[in-house]
Amino acid sequence: MRPGNTLKVKGKIPADSVGFSINLGCSSRDLALHFNPRFNESVIVCNSKFSNCWQTEYRDRHLSFYRGSTVKFFIEMLSDKFRVKLPDGHEVYFPNRHGYHKINYVNIHGGLKMISFRLS
Ligand code: GAL
Repeated sequence: MRPGNTLKVKGKIPADSVGFSINLGCSSRDLALHFNPRFNESVIVCNSKFSNCWQTEYRDRHLSFYRGSTVKFFIEMLSDKFRVKLPDGHEVYFPNRHGYHKINYVNIHGGLKMISFRLS
């Protein structure tokens, strides 16, 4: 994934999901974007990780993901930030803190059953 690319994600959120995360970076220890909707806290947490240490969290209370629903959302990489377009069109921005030009690590964790995942 490079600046200009978009990840299109479609998935089903199980009724008992407490949350899920999509992690983009170089490795599990170095993440440019940890995108983490949490149903138990009604918040979307975004963060980055550097040398296995979490950095400063950004929290957005606009949680337009619902347990039991099928969702479609987009993560676009721009040169200096990521833009996540939520199912209702709301956008969440998170800076590309490490200045990565390329993402070669993706991990999806927790309560989201992937239906499709496409990079364009
Ligand atoms: C921690 C949590 C991690 C990650 C991080 C984000 O509390 O254990 O999984 O979500 O927050 O800042």
